[in-house]
Amino acid sequence: MDLLIKNGTVVTADESFIADIAVENGKIACIGQNLSVDAKQTVDAAGKLVLPGAIDAHTHLAMPFGGTVSADGYLAGTRAAACGGVTTVFDYPMQKKGMGIMEIIEARKAMCDPEACVDYAFHCIITDLNGGALLDEFQAAVDNGITSFKCFLVYKKEGMMVDDATLIKVLLKAKEVGAITNIHAENPDVIDMNIEKFLKEGKTSAWYHYLSRPEFVEAEADKRAVHWAKSVGAPLYIVHMADKEGLEAAIAAKLEGHDIYVETCPQYLEFTCDVYKREDGRNFVCSPPMKGEESREALWDAIKTGLIDTVATDHCPFQSYEKDWGKDDFTKIPNGCAGVENLYPYMLSAAGAGKITWSRAVALCATNPAKIFGCTQKGSLAPGKDADIVVYDPKKDFTISVSNMHSDYDHTIWEGKTLHGYPVQTYVRGRLVYDNGAFVGQPGYGEFVKRAPKI
Ligand code: URP
Ligand code: ZN
Ligand code: ZN
Ligand code: ZN
Repeated sequence: MDLLIKNGTVVTADESFIADIAVENGKIACIGQNLSVDAKQTVDAAGKLVLPGAIDAHTHLAMPFGGTVSADGYLAGTRAAACGGVTTVFDYPMQKKGMGIMEIIEARKAMCDPEACVDYAFHCIITDLNGGALLDEFQAAVDNGITSFKCFLVYKKEGMMVDDATLIKVLLKAKEVGAITNIHAENPDVIDMNIEKFLKEGKTSAWYHYLSRPEFVEAEADKRAVHWAKSVGAPLYIVHMADKEGLEAAIAAKLEGHDIYVETCPQYLEFTCDVYKREDGRNFVCSPPMKGEESREALWDAIKTGLIDTVATDHCPFQSYEKDWGKDDFTKIPNGCAGVENLYPYMLSAAGAGKITWSRAVALCATNPAKIFGCTQKGSLAPGKDADIVVYDPKKDFTISVSNMHSDYDHTIWEGKTLHGYPVQTYVRGRLVYDNGAFVGQPGYGEFVKRAPKI
């Protein structure tokens, strides 16, 4: 064996038990008590938890947005991922008018492959059907392991928005080829109306970013997306759910038996729209914005009852000087926050505090995204699976600061937040990539995850 992790408390989505894990050739070879195997390296995990590596199903690395590019490229973003216990990141390459799906995927693979420190998968953003011809490429995308597509119901001026007819065509084609459609749901017309009004009135601070897209503006689009998915019987994954009313609509459809999944992000679980009242509120501008306390509580309730399926980050940081472009006009602030390094530690610290179980944290951050998105080799600790493993010390305290993160951004919404419990080691396919505060991985080690279609 290459590696033996002994005496840890192994946590799966269903249970926790003390066991040893033996790893060979990047895979979990066996799990059991007092394994007597020879290993090149042995790690004593007594008193620690041994968890599947997290899958961050929502990141935007090197993403063009608002006249710039997000601050973490593939190297920095996946280095930060490794240091937060994330062993697979999903990025969102964006197809543009006239462009093919595999064309953009291959271009992004060429960028990512030499830099990736953890494994990576792609959802493809669809912005234009090229007169319908693009739909004929969905099968080839699935054959190449791209089994999810995304539509934005907003970002008209950025050239990313699609109309309802396009969304329906994508939903139907995705279903036909065994893929799933991800949706960013907000109502663009009401946002534009509000923006015009606020700017005319000289209301230009980050607070008006929130007021231009409050709860009911997100809820309408959540409900519309759920309605179309139900009507055509296609699977739907709602990204970064942030409002109570939309959440309730998605949950109702899910409970009726529809193939509808909900993702939220740590920032919506921890913060409310009050952050936009802060002097540095523009640094936290993301879409959808953080909402009121009622929504935050509803999200936590659904996390606890298992009605939210995944927690992912929407990691899309921008530097302070870029956020400053919108000092006197919130519409000029590039949208997005950091999070990839904070996801697993945050959700696990909630488990440590008794808010959710350890197994629920594992389900939300690893096992569920693997299942929903067809990562058949990932997301659980079981013989034959990739040895993507996190050793976690439930007693280690850690205070998040930009200075101890491993990204390239210069500020974080999580600054000053103390977590009780923290990852001490991360392994990707059996190779140590993070060790007690230090990145020890290798750019280029990360591999593309070819995913399986839904059957
Ligand atoms: O503000 C955000 N969320 N920026 C990234 C793009 C998106 O909407 O997911
Ligand atoms: Zn979005
Ligand atoms: Zn996003
Ligand atoms: Zn503590």
